[in-house]
Amino acid sequence: MKNEPPKIDWERLRQLRDLFLQPEPITGPYWKSNRQLQDYDITLGERIGWKWDAVLRELKARGWEPPSPSLTDMGCGTGIATRRLLRAYPGQFKKVTLWDHSEAAVNYARQKIRHEFPEVRVICPGSAPHPKGVVLISHVLTELSDESAGELLELMADAQAMLWVEPGTFETSRMLIEIREMLKDQFKVVAPCTHQNTCGLQAEGNEGHWCHHFADAPAKAHQDPFWGYFRKEMNLDVGPLAYSFLILAKESPLIPEGAAHLIGKPLKFPKFVRVLSCQAEDVRELVAGRGVDAYRSLKKGETPAVYRFDLKKNRILSGQKIS
Ligand SMILES: C[S@@+](CC[C@H](N)C(=O)[O-])C[C@H]1O[C@@H](n2cnc3c(N)ncnc32)[C@H](O)[C@@H]1O
Repeated sequence: MKNEPPKIDWERLRQLRDLFLQPEPITGPYWKSNRQLQDYDITLGERIGWKWDAVLRELKARGWEPPSPSLTDMGCGTGIATRRLLRAYPGQFKKVTLWDHSEAAVNYARQKIRHEFPEVRVICPGSAPHPKGVVLISHVLTELSDESAGELLELMADAQAMLWVEPGTFETSRMLIEIREMLKDQFKVVAPCTHQNTCGLQAEGNEGHWCHHFADAPAKAHQDPFWGYFRKEMNLDVGPLAYSFLILAKESPLIPEGAAHLIGKPLKFPKFVRVLSCQAEDVRELVAGRGVDAYRSLKKGETPAVYRFDLKKNRILSGQKIS
């Protein structure tokens, strides 16, 4: 028998996405049913999972390890981000705390985590927790008022590490940059930056840029009829997906001196490629000609895009990927 693709209430999913895209904060819980959470989890949620997979690959490439066996998901929704983290670091987390102002979401996330990771203890407190271990925040920022965002940041004071992933839009990236600047005296910056200095995107001349990256969908999604329906019904690409992220921790792995992190997509020209590169001194455009060793990798926009470059002014003479 042929595998039937999952049945989705596309109209309801489109309404949900419209709600996410409207610019005003969302004041209360909006999840209506388990069915709606399930539809989200295997579509929009799965795409968020691909972004987390890209971030977690980068964290591994940078040598980051969870500093605590306790994980807290703030605004957990269906718990997709927590499940990606548990998969990426098997056996390392013993306890997961789920917080969301929607009880329906917490119940759904708890069931999914218990099913996939029966060995992990799941705790669902009745009010917002003060996490002491690793905190994860995923696609929550645009729903919060300034006041709620401020309250969320206050709760982070005792966390060992904070992993935050949001859509790769100008607005969310700029919000994450503000948060980075507010918290960087309490935490060390693990990623995306390769340094602890003030964010170079705040410098004059860089106002039009934003810190974003792209996650590919798994190759099999492009052949899967289900994702074909998704594309048609939601009028959305399956991938690559733009995301912004911020990883802070009380202790950070050592980043090799002079490392650079590339932002956005490379601009390709017939004989050279131009990239936006972030390093301790600044954020600026660099160019690499065809003869440069890292040319192919730069042109493909390979991630994680952490490099060490030998430069002559803004020309890349050679580049080594850090992994
Ligand atoms: C777009 S969903 C993202 C869910 C999940 N983190 C993910 O990445 O798929 C945003 C979640 O944040 C929750 N949320 C929004 N504002 C909140 C608040 N002030 N307190 C607790 N949860 C909140 C919503 O109920 C929703 O489940």
